[in-house]
Amino acid sequence: MLAFKGASEAVVASVNPARTSGALTGPSFYIVLDRLHETLEGRIRRWNASEPSKLDRQKLMPEKTRIIKEVAAGIAHLHKNLIIHRDIKPANVAFAPITDQVKIFDMGISRRLPGDDRDQLYRMTGYTGSQRYMAPKPYGLSADVYSWALLAVETFSQKTAFKGYTSQAHKKAVCHQHVRPNLKSVPRHIGRIVKASWDQQPQRRSSIETVCDKLTQEKRVTCGQRYCN
Ligand SMILES: Nc1ncnc2c1ncn2[C@@H]1O[C@H](COP(=O)(O)OP(=O)(O)O)[C@@H](O)[C@H]1O
Ligand SMILES: [Mg+2]
Repeated sequence: MLAFKGASEAVVASVNPARTSGALTGPSFYIVLDRLHETLEGRIRRWNASEPSKLDRQKLMPEKTRIIKEVAAGIAHLHKNLIIHRDIKPANVAFAPITDQVKIFDMGISRRLPGDDRDQLYRMTGYTGSQRYMAPKPYGLSADVYSWALLAVETFSQKTAFKGYTSQAHKKAVCHQHVRPNLKSVPRHIGRIVKASWDQQPQRRSSIETVCDKLTQEKRVTCGQRYCN
């Protein structure tokens, strides 16, 4: 069976390209995806709906840390293949059933970098992605690193960044005044990694590999000295 958009249309068990019989629209190729059970956006909503106490929020720390780490690993895989996702956000990250493994999907506006220069920057025409998570131009692989940083803060804070901002207000704040979301709910060691990921200057942002390395090096992230005991 095929995975289209929307849970009602399909249930799938494996990743495969498939060809339909063309009963509806003529023969077409589709990508068959694992069926994912909850997006990160949905999970954050669920966390918020349960109105956890401060203690419960603390208990979510290992899970949140694992999620942002797995998202970074997924982006690293794309970047290794010179693909910019360009729309990294909680609504495009979801969880596999049973394992709860993090998956990045919605490659609708992804681009492969022309050539093999990882540091190249180029100007996209028009808007790409969701403005809230969109890095100030120009774009390159580092645009996904910026979006990862916003996703990380949203995961910890359980609050949507720049909520209620108009397009103009967002542009003024982010591009001209260099405003970024508050880091107070982010563990300090992760906050440092986030700060290095959303620099105004794309060249100064960490690569996603550096983000992954720093998250792995950080003992508290992996073995949870602070959170998992
Ligand atoms: N593999 C999947 N398993 C379950 N639901 C999915 C899957 N892929 C997409 N969806 C659902 O379809 C929605 C839209 O898919 P997406 O690829 O993000 O397209 P869009 O460009 O419309 O954002 C997702 O938010 C999710 O609810
Ligand atoms: Mg989407």
